Amino acid sequence: ALVESRDRVGSVAVIGLGTMGTGIAEVVARHGFTVRAIDLDDATVRDARQRIEASTDRAVARDKLTASERSGILDRILFTTNLQECLTSDIVIEAVPENLELKRQVLGQLDGLVPDRVIWCTNTSSLSVTEISTAVSQPSRVVGLHFFNPAPVQDFVEIVRTVVTDDEVVEHIRVFTEQIGKQAVICEDKAGFIANSLLFGYLNHAASMFEQKYASREDIDAAMRLGCGLPMGPLALLDLIGLDTSYQILDTMYRQGRDRLHAPSPILKHMATAGLKGRKSGRGFYTYAEPGSPEIVADDHVATQDAMEVSVREVTTVGVVGSGTMATGIIEVFAKAGFSVTFVARSEDKVAKVIASIRRSLEKARQRGKIEQDAVDAAVGCITGTTALDDLADVDLVVEAEEVVLETLTFPAHFPIFLRTFLAKVLVEAEGDQEDLI
Ligand code: 3HC
Repeated sequence: ALVESRDRVGSVAVIGLGTMGTGIAEVVARHGFTVRAIDLDDATVRDARQRIEASTDRAVARDKLTASERSGILDRILFTTNLQECLTSDIVIEAVPENLELKRQVLGQLDGLVPDRVIWCTNTSSLSVTEISTAVSQPSRVVGLHFFNPAPVQDFVEIVRTVVTDDEVVEHIRVFTEQIGKQAVICEDKAGFIANSLLFGYLNHAASMFEQKYASREDIDAAMRLGCGLPMGPLALLDLIGLDTSYQILDTMYRQGRDRLHAPSPILKHMATAGLKGRKSGRGFYTYAEPGSPEIVADDHVATQDAMEVSVREVTTVGVVGSGTMATGIIEVFAKAGFSVTFVARSEDKVAKVIASIRRSLEKARQRGKIEQDAVDAAVGCITGTTALDDLADVDLVVEAEEVVLETLTFPAHFPIFLRTFLAKVLVEAEGDQEDLI
């Protein structure tokens, strides 16, 4: 088979050396393949070389590569503006900007140059692979090969097959992706494939929230990074992907699916048009030390410290109302931080369950070496459980974390679920009795 061994792949050509093309060329060369890295623009080719040199330099500095491995990688990449270099390529990966006409034009131009056995891959993020494939004489040899940014780091790719793609071609590319250290999924030619279809509605929403001054960029990003455990916030991620690229992806997805979620937030177009394209241009939602740098530097939009200067009331005692999962977690957080916490549950039984659950959680943390026994005892000592709301009369701060437990409420079977949820909420808020309410 064509790509069973690296020796049998003459070389891989990567066409278009923007952020993605450069990353793809690097990852392919790092895995032992010979790469023709091609762009028609001299300056772009120079930039791409510098970025791969810098990235592999960083890897040597961090002991991830030896100096000789690094020079081997750079030796395997031929940076060029000459499309004729594709002549010996077995795999061509197209990564030019997200524009259907441009992609078709580039592939059409190469069609006569490359051998018949070539496999065409397009790194399109959202365009129809089928429409791109008809630009070459053998559309059955075209697949989507969608990488994620940064391509050398993200371990995942989507292989997109069209209705005419040969099974053998898909299999060759699947083996190839394994050889370059990626985990692949094979998906259908639908706008946004899998990941972008999910991701871009969310990113778009974050851009709109920022535009509507719903919250600061730092707070929007912190909510998703710290609250939801994502590696970066949505606005920082838009900067990484590029606001121009993100706009194009959303625009394509919106045209295809007419899903309001994908109607590009106007701010994306305004910023991209003004040259604020994100990290690659040195400015997007954030300002970076220089174009291409991941280092965020202060700018006019940094939140001011004025709010911090307002005098704050001292908090030493805290009340928590509730005994469910969230309440239990909140009580634990306050107790670990040394606050005296009183929580209110609906029964003595629930009081005991909360305390037992917090003890178990702290004990687990102790066994993992995250906390000392003294701190466990101190935290447990900070907690008092009660069933009387009056016991919160003197606390400095109250956190309401009451759960609505639908199962404990018996509604007539024909009650729609939204009505049950609504009534349950009213019930809890009114602290009323279910029969009275109904
Ligand atoms: N190029 C090459 N390598 C890079 C890199 C880059 N641009 N950025 C980071 N790295 C490497 C670093 O050298 C480091 O490597 P090492 O562990 O071997 O030393 C490693 O990645 C971790 O980098 P850092 O320690 O500097 O930083 P973080 O730990 O904060 O990771 C991140 C940075 C990998 C970008 C991480 O924040 C992340 O995964 N963010 C989410 C990215 C994401 O969601 N990508 C998908 C976007 S959607 C997409 O691409 C689809 C397209 O169609 C738009």
